[in-house]
Amino acid sequence: TSASLQGYESFMMKEIRESWGAVRDTLTGLLKENELLNKTIKAIERAKRVIIVAAGTSYNAGLLFTIRLQRAGFNAISVIASEHNNLRTNQDDTVLVISQSGETMDSLIALKKYKNNGSFIISLTNTLGNSISSYSDIALHTRAGPEIGVAATKTFTSQVGALMLLSSLLLNESVDYLKEAESVIANSFSKVIGYTKIIGSELSKKPSLYYLGKGLGVPLAMEGALKIKEIAYVHAEAYPAGESKHGPIALVENGFPVIFLNNGEFTDELYNNVMEMESRHAKTYVISAGSKISTNNNQNEIVLDVPDPRLSPLALAPPIQLIAYYAAKERGANPDRPRNLAKTVTVR
Ligand code: G6P
Repeated sequence: TSASLQGYESFMMKEIRESWGAVRDTLTGLLKENELLNKTIKAIERAKRVIIVAAGTSYNAGLLFTIRLQRAGFNAISVIASEHNNLRTNQDDTVLVISQSGETMDSLIALKKYKNNGSFIISLTNTLGNSISSYSDIALHTRAGPEIGVAATKTFTSQVGALMLLSSLLLNESVDYLKEAESVIANSFSKVIGYTKIIGSELSKKPSLYYLGKGLGVPLAMEGALKIKEIAYVHAEAYPAGESKHGPIALVENGFPVIFLNNGEFTDELYNNVMEMESRHAKTYVISAGSKISTNNNQNEIVLDVPDPRLSPLALAPPIQLIAYYAAKERGANPDRPRNLAKTVTVR
């Protein structure tokens, strides 16, 4: 009953439009839970290792957190839930399980195993009273509201917001920059809506593409590739831009689409990667958060207003979601109900 389109043509579009409000509500909600946040920080600080476990889109959000922690010297590791057997945890580890639904079987099984090993369990889910949070020592929540579209959109952006907040607290950074999260996401949406429609339509006619990024841009590239596969059935692969010369570039020929996500940190290196791809006649697109990548007028670069590089993952969320959305639309696919996929996978 709560699932109504309210005039939107699809839940996916409705939910992308709800994403900045969802991030705002997530941040204010979490900041009100002072005690829970403090316990979370302590559990992560005292751990010998921080293990981040999730599946699908939630894994991509978790990877941002892992990178942020690794950069600050934490011993942080991302684990794909179904591959939890590759890691043995113990009582010195703190495990963060991220799941929109809180019911993903792979994530739940990983949680139970790590809990049995004596590890401390923190969860980040978007629903109340779910299985994953009930097994957790600390249950944190995003506040994106119900998400109907099978492809995660506003829940992903909310996870990113929550994880930027958590990582900033752990790194003793001021969290003031997050006050601009809502407007950065909303402005990004308005700025890219036309551009992504064009790109989405071009990509819908291609058999394959690459999404490349660097640093915090890599998990966003992974999410961009996942989204366009999920709902538009276009094959896409994500790679760290610098690594693309070690294999993936072999496929690049005239017109092969390569989308660069520039998070504003490594623009010179990324620029070289763009040039590398263009010299192979790739069709490049650059989505830049904050700082422009090139001095020449690359027609295919769009620059988003991002006052702080830590907001770039949030700014890059609308374009990757909209590209997938428009590619799906162009192919006549229903973005809300992609074939072969379920919103919540409760089997192994
Ligand atoms: C399914 C969905 C994905 C989702 C993944 C993890 O595969 O189709 O969109 O990212 O499950 O879901 P979770 O609820 O654990 O975040």
